[in-house]
Amino acid sequence: MENIIRMEKVKRPWVVAHRGYRGLYPENTLAAFEAAIAVGADMVELDVCLTRDRVPVVIHDKTLYRTTDGKGLVSEHSLSELKELDAGSWFSSEFKGEAVPTLEELLQLVRGKISVNIEIKQDSFESPAPPDAIEFQICELVERLEMVDSVLISSFEHFIFSRIQRWYRDHGKSTALRIAPLQEVPLSEELALGLCQRQSAYSYNPNENHVTPSLIEIMKAGGFRIFPYTINDEKRMEQLIKWGATGIISDEPELLWKVIRKLKGDE
Ligand code: G3P
Ligand code: MG
Repeated sequence: MENIIRMEKVKRPWVVAHRGYRGLYPENTLAAFEAAIAVGADMVELDVCLTRDRVPVVIHDKTLYRTTDGKGLVSEHSLSELKELDAGSWFSSEFKGEAVPTLEELLQLVRGKISVNIEIKQDSFESPAPPDAIEFQICELVERLEMVDSVLISSFEHFIFSRIQRWYRDHGKSTALRIAPLQEVPLSEELALGLCQRQSAYSYNPNENHVTPSLIEIMKAGGFRIFPYTINDEKRMEQLIKWGATGIISDEPELLWKVIRKLKGDE
């Protein structure tokens, strides 16, 4: 589903493809995002970092070793240097030549086809924020491409959210970007709710290991959605859906669809 407003009307869990269709494709490549669209995911999750020349690019790690044939830090390389790298062969020779996409290339690819969860990695957080900080560049890009209703911004770096909201106020925009605090370590239900209230969050995106039925109930009663990450086990998907999770972030969007259809049939 290309638009979050439309997605909200659908009475089933959202299928969020983690780093694209990561189970079968090299993560965070255009091939992985195209595959997620092809299998009918509702949203793709992706990670962004800044290059040396300050271009937001789609890659998870701060270094290049795991998912490309390059070496060193992403932040030490210019965009043109990164574009020389192969981001597909590490996964399979079938994907030789896949590149590290820029955020703009990714957004152009998915625009009108699927919603996007952009995760801003902590290593790109700067204090104080320069005018071309990654979060401001994302706001400008999303506005230029008129994608505000198709984008959810998440981060473990919760200071980023107030800057995004300030950017929208400063630019006189009535609709601000939707935001989702990510939470890796356990947080009490009370603190999680307070965090979302303070941040005017759209959703709470916790590590799935800390999710309980009462956390889901409390967040939803507070008016927040909840998207746990990252679930690839069929039984756990089923459990979280039965508990009422708004959606599931998974490397396996087709498996998630299978679970959703099975539960629908059980009703
Ligand atoms: O957005 C959920 C998840 O992607 C957060 O962790 O490390 O996979 O980016 P990570
Ligand atoms: Mg991520």
